[in-house]
Amino acid sequence: MQTWATVNRPEALMKDWRVPREADARRIRQVRGDICNDHVSLDGHTQINFCSNDYLGFSQNVQVCEAIAEAASRYGVGAGASPLITGYTEIHEALEEALARFTGRDCALVFSSGYLGNLGCITALAERTDTILEDRLNHASLLDAVSLSGANRKRYAHADFEDAARLMSTDVALLVTEGVFSMGGDIAPIRELAELAHANGALLMCDDAHGLGVLGEHGGGVLEDAALGQGEVPLLVGTLSKALGAQGGFVAGPHGLMEHLLQYARTYTYDTALAPPLAAAALESLQLLESEPEHLERLRGNIDYFLQCAQQKTLPLMPSRSAIQPLLVGKASAALAISQQLREKGFAVSAIRPPTVPEGSARLRITLSACHTHAQIDKLIEVLGTSDKLLT
Ligand SMILES: Cc1ncc(COP(=O)(O)O)c(C=O)c1O
Repeated sequence: MQTWATVNRPEALMKDWRVPREADARRIRQVRGDICNDHVSLDGHTQINFCSNDYLGFSQNVQVCEAIAEAASRYGVGAGASPLITGYTEIHEALEEALARFTGRDCALVFSSGYLGNLGCITALAERTDTILEDRLNHASLLDAVSLSGANRKRYAHADFEDAARLMSTDVALLVTEGVFSMGGDIAPIRELAELAHANGALLMCDDAHGLGVLGEHGGGVLEDAALGQGEVPLLVGTLSKALGAQGGFVAGPHGLMEHLLQYARTYTYDTALAPPLAAAALESLQLLESEPEHLERLRGNIDYFLQCAQQKTLPLMPSRSAIQPLLVGKASAALAISQQLREKGFAVSAIRPPTVPEGSARLRITLSACHTHAQIDKLIEVLGTSDKLLT
């Protein structure tokens, strides 16, 4: 059959439109229907959701939803323009001030996603003649940002401070790490990296997308947990799309650096500003995080409970005290099979496979939320405990 593609595309380009041949590597989507607390409907099957990054359940919080509706009626649904034209509203300004206060930084700049925050920040700061040192398993947005910057790249072994120290040199302008790693749930050796950066005159950048709203006494993330301020870690990147339950991203840091980003971050200048209702939602979530500590307490209680039960069943936990609790499986096919078994028993747990994680380290990425009950965690652990693929 002749399609538009076969008629119009030269053969050379057609080759690029391929999908992975191995079934294990192919990505598929499931259509999500309603979501209600800890339940999600995927392809029409209602399941208990153990794969969302909405760690505090704020994406469905009544006050957050009301803030969205009110902001839409005041400012419109979309921002209508870049923040440097007319897209920067009072809500964006209030959100940036709240984020700066919350993170203990001079100021914050809100981007329309965390991905674009990372791209904008690194490309605005690094020149082709600079060197960037980064964790080998950093998130794709950080890896892509370094590639796009054209800077010389050095990658140290995952979360390995000694390897970072071995590769450090005086030409390193930026040292880049995640705070809580998105696919492992483990935490960067952030104190040691801060000392290393300081001793070598490099700027330390920490993307704590998965630590904010989860770790630290007030949910201030890995940096609050390690008592590291702006002086030690000048650049903090966060997302509004995980514990804050909304969408968007931000970079927070000293005045001078933030002003530089405002002038030169191309993903800030040439992107429509974050939709005002989403900025309002993130602001409301941030206020809830500060005024209602019970959400964070419930999440912490669930993480502790999961760890305790999983240890009793000797499940192959990876080292993590965050809301991301992966179980190491190894083969992609086995991870997919367990994920399917879980789905049949009513649990949504995603199988994470290469190239997202290194070859041979496919895993089940279980994420906990403040909405889960202990009974749901018990049931999940019980089902996992019966999986022969997981225990052999
Ligand atoms: C560590 C990390 N950084 C950045 C991002 C991108 O954030 P966003 O989803 O807001 O674009 C993600 C999201 O998956 C992430 O895990």
